[in-house]
Amino acid sequence: MADAKMKCVTLRPPDFSVPIDELKSAVSKNTRAILINTPHNPTGKMFTREELEVIASLCIENDVLVFTDEVYDKLAFEMDHISMASLPGMYERTVTLNSLGKTFSLTGWKIGWAIAPPHLTWGVRQAHSFLTFATSTPMQYAAAAALRAPDSYYEELKRDFGKKEGYFGRGVEGGRFYGNVDSLRGLGTPSGSCRPKDGTSGSEEPEISHSSRGRRICCAAGGILPEKKTKDVKRTTEGLV
Ligand SMILES: Cc1ncc(COP(=O)(O)O)c(C=O)c1O
Repeated sequence: MADAKMKCVTLRPPDFSVPIDELKSAVSKNTRAILINTPHNPTGKMFTREELEVIASLCIENDVLVFTDEVYDKLAFEMDHISMASLPGMYERTVTLNSLGKTFSLTGWKIGWAIAPPHLTWGVRQAHSFLTFATSTPMQYAAAAALRAPDSYYEELKRDFGKKEGYFGRGVEGGRFYGNVDSLRGLGTPSGSCRPKDGTSGSEEPEISHSSRGRRICCAAGGILPEKKTKDVKRTTEGLV
């Protein structure tokens, strides 16, 4: 739509840290915007303050905007989420994107929002009317009600996820899948959401692999499990949803 040329800067294992030199050589005075996602799906990488500061100073130096997808901001477990817009000099050049999907387990509703200073919201509204046009009004009222949730809701959400990852981790132990191990802790594997290790979609026989990088798993299994394992996972995840 904007006719932009895209340059990708890849985050690589084991820690998925921002490759500063690569980023610096990708950004110039011709760069209009940087897109980031933190906490990141599927790796679980959370950008550190130092990394965000490097990105911020590149943006300020080259007059670049940032679009930052922070839909997992309330699901940060061992490190506080840092919003790009909170860094000095960044609010005025940042569009922060969030949605009901993860925080309120309502991904099917497809309702999100953008937070930006007034001089940037005009562009967001234009893009929205070309891409989505409109969102159901009753759902927007429901979204506004959800956003008035007390702090205790967010505490309970994290407790609940903590329990689920325990169940899920036990369920896939020894199974054929990568889960998002250590997801949301900055230690994840580049696995996507529970794909077989060999990169197939799950329709072929994948190599047996349960990542041993960590014990934390926070998404549901997909693809093929041997029959016994399927039963085990079913048993251990019963009553979770
Ligand atoms: C990083 C990221 N951003 C945005 C979305 C979309 O969220 P939703 O459709 O629930 O609003 C997802 C969904 O998986 C996601 O992983």
